[in-house]
Amino acid sequence: MIHTRILMVCLGNICRSPLAEGILKSKVNNDFIYVDSAGTSAFHSGELPDQRSIKVAKTHGIDITNQRSRQFITNDFAVFDTIYVMDKSNERNIIALAKNDIDRKKVKLILNEIPTSKDKDVPDPYYDEDDGFEKVYQMLDHACTEIAKKI
Ligand code: 4NP
Repeated sequence: MIHTRILMVCLGNICRSPLAEGILKSKVNNDFIYVDSAGTSAFHSGELPDQRSIKVAKTHGIDITNQRSRQFITNDFAVFDTIYVMDKSNERNIIALAKNDIDRKKVKLILNEIPTSKDKDVPDPYYDEDDGFEKVYQMLDHACTEIAKKI
């Protein structure tokens, strides 16, 4: 039975948060942990992850082609225990939708799970070359290892 629900959030839900979702799913028992992702924007709703995210995930043995972009909705605060945001701009956008302290306490910068990366952002790789995606992958892999240890 599911006992923990985790939502990964970025701007478009096509580059960073689909990777975070796929990576964390690969590290936990999916019978007990539910992992999803969403974007603060609806720019890419219904779309597959970015081809560069699909490619870097595949390089590491993870298939994220089952995912489709969706926008964050306020009901996600009720559904999820923890909402990991990729950067401080995502954090501001999600906090702005929170109704109370219970909601606000669920929102965490994902790199804060890495003791040496406090208050750092996962950079938006959208306008980068492919190597930006590998760097993002490595950051998220490290953060998700820490998350998986805790849950
Ligand atoms: P993501 O990257 O937030 O990691 O999915 C982006 C994807 C699309 C856009 C910006 C960032 N965009 O402006 O369309």
